[in-house]
Amino acid sequence: MGKSIKTVAVLTSGGDAPGMNACIRAVTRTAIYNSMKVYGIYRGFEGLMSGEFKELTTESVSNVIQRGGTILKTARSAEFMTPEGHKKAHDNLLKYGVDALIIIGGNGSLTGAHELAMEYDDIPVIGLPGTIDNDLYGTDYTIGYDTALNTIVECVDKIRDTANSHDRIFFVEVMGRDAGFLAQNSAIAAGAEAAIIPEDQTDVDQLAQFIGRGVRKSKNSSIVLVSEAKKDGHGGAMYYAERMRKEYPAYDVRVTILGHLQRGGTPSAYDRILASRLGYASIEALKEGQRNVMIGIQDGEIAYVPIDRAVKRDKPIDRELIDVLSVLSI
Ligand code: F6P
Repeated sequence: MGKSIKTVAVLTSGGDAPGMNACIRAVTRTAIYNSMKVYGIYRGFEGLMSGEFKELTTESVSNVIQRGGTILKTARSAEFMTPEGHKKAHDNLLKYGVDALIIIGGNGSLTGAHELAMEYDDIPVIGLPGTIDNDLYGTDYTIGYDTALNTIVECVDKIRDTANSHDRIFFVEVMGRDAGFLAQNSAIAAGAEAAIIPEDQTDVDQLAQFIGRGVRKSKNSSIVLVSEAKKDGHGGAMYYAERMRKEYPAYDVRVTILGHLQRGGTPSAYDRILASRLGYASIEALKEGQRNVMIGIQDGEIAYVPIDRAVKRDKPIDRELIDVLSVLSI
């Protein structure tokens, strides 16, 4: 058993993700249920350093479970990644009497959480995976991923109507700088011809082959999902579209970049439930004396993984998904 936890603080950091509010609600209500005091910290690590703390009550988190974005706001902070930044953050945690810090965020945010915990080990840190990218090791799903995936599929269904009417090839760029989960799975769900993801090599001839397969069976439109990872200084979709235009001028090529609309919107039921379970589990973990772990979901069960393991950017994509798409798009 660790030191008894009487006061916790929660913040959201990095890119927002649908379901973050459900998670803040779950942390707050579970903490209060266990007679703990809860602070919400505004604007992520920026607010942690500048002291934007506000006590949360059960009412503060009423009517938020269905809302996208984050009621605590979020930010990306370069200053926090410095020893001076960590000191300011730690001073504020002491000032407000915080016994444990809960951080909801993605790879960069949990890396920051780990660094803070390494420098100051008197305040346990718990990470909760909140990112549409689904790229944290040790959890099958991250909060926000399911909603973003559904948003993408809805958009691609619409793009397909116009692609079909004009006999065009569309390269649709989706988020996920270093991970292809969104691109690969939305390609399967939307019945696309191909996905270009950072975990796999796709050259332009291969692409032309996939698209040619469709044309031969008199399917004159094609959709290719592309992860946003940069190629030769261009966004992924732009790069592949240019190459196709140059090397296969017979095709009428268009690009759609879905951008930040993928991060907004009301969270899916799955994301709300995941966020609620993880938020609840964060307080249970602190009661058990856990520290410096990320809490994830593995095969439907709550699982703990050391934060520094979760952020190594090596969560593998299931290779079977690549085969499924390739076979089903013939
Ligand atoms: O990490 C989540 C994410 O949405 C990535 O998929 C994307 O590359 C990035 O954030 C965009 O960040 P920003 O909103 O700062 O432009």
